[in-house]
Amino acid sequence: MSVPRSFTLANRLQIPSTGYGTWQIPFGEETEKAVGSALAAGFRHIDTAAAYGNDFSVAAAVNSSGIARKDIFISGKLWINKRGYDAALKAFKQTLKRFNMDYLDLFLIHWPAAPKVYENWKELNDDTWRAFQTLYNDGLVRAVGVSNFTPFYLAPLLEKAEIVPMVNQIEYHPGFMQKETAAFCQGVGILIEAWSPLGSGRILMRKELLNIAEKYGRSSAQICIRWCLQNGVLPISRSVNPERIKENAAVFDFELPHEDMAVINALPDFGGSGDNPDDFEANLKETPQVSGRML
Ligand SMILES: NC(=O)c1ccc[n+]([C@@H]2O[C@H](COP(=O)([O-])OP(=O)(O)OC[C@H]3O[C@@H](n4cnc5c(N)ncnc54)[C@H](OP(=O)(O)O)[C@@H]3O)[C@@H](O)[C@H]2O)c1
Repeated sequence: MSVPRSFTLANRLQIPSTGYGTWQIPFGEETEKAVGSALAAGFRHIDTAAAYGNDFSVAAAVNSSGIARKDIFISGKLWINKRGYDAALKAFKQTLKRFNMDYLDLFLIHWPAAPKVYENWKELNDDTWRAFQTLYNDGLVRAVGVSNFTPFYLAPLLEKAEIVPMVNQIEYHPGFMQKETAAFCQGVGILIEAWSPLGSGRILMRKELLNIAEKYGRSSAQICIRWCLQNGVLPISRSVNPERIKENAAVFDFELPHEDMAVINALPDFGGSGDNPDDFEANLKETPQVSGRML
């Protein structure tokens, strides 16, 4: 099965089908180098977030890359302490200023407000989404979406939404497919992006994946990334190692046949990262500041 170099979002916008993630990379030189390596390896879709504390370094790397802004797809996220209509608009404008850019390609609500923390969680998510619709209608962002929204959060949001989110970024990797959320999203035309497509590195030594990787002379990371694509899911992988970044970009010259896709799709539960939207914020030790340089 061939896979496209870009997916088409519900509003017809093209989004490069493999993304490069920047979580946990220290701001400054390390982030700038890593993003530079990703661009050199051919990634044209970079995922960042205010909460990573390095988004301004991601932007600096993009702005100094010599690659036209229109040829790089930049995705940002609204952190949990900026929910609500006015706060979300203000936070987005601060993000653009920090990035020294006129627009973002995609902006996501990082985590839904959950009933464990907020009695008015539905209203809070609706108000935040209204701000995202305003940003989209004002042309400040080319696509809008959510992250970590299970059907429990999506269904009420869709009742009030004038624009259906174009993307839902969720944890997704072999042994953790979130099938109910994926099916719900596919049913309403929301593209799934996979965060931690390599299980943050912890699934790469699983023998089931190594066996398939060996058959094709590939790495288990490449198998995970290619498997996402063949399932119609957009993988966002991360590495700070230039050789691994190149490896993770080189997933368009081989194919996983149906029988190997079926083996991976049927793997037992490998477990997720443990960050579940119902508990995420309730479990944060220090809320909402998770990163030293978060703005
Ligand atoms: N929306 C959300 O709530 C959310 C949550 C988590 C993540 N994300 C996004 O998703 C992105 C990806 O998730 P993730 O950061 O957990 O990363 P991941 O891509 O699942 O795994 C990254 C880990 O795998 C290692 N690795 C990468 N390529 C490798 C290769 N070819 N061979 C061996 N090891 C390899 C990396 O180490 P080296 O660096 O040493 O290579 C790193 O330790 C994040 O960076 C972020 O942008 C979003």
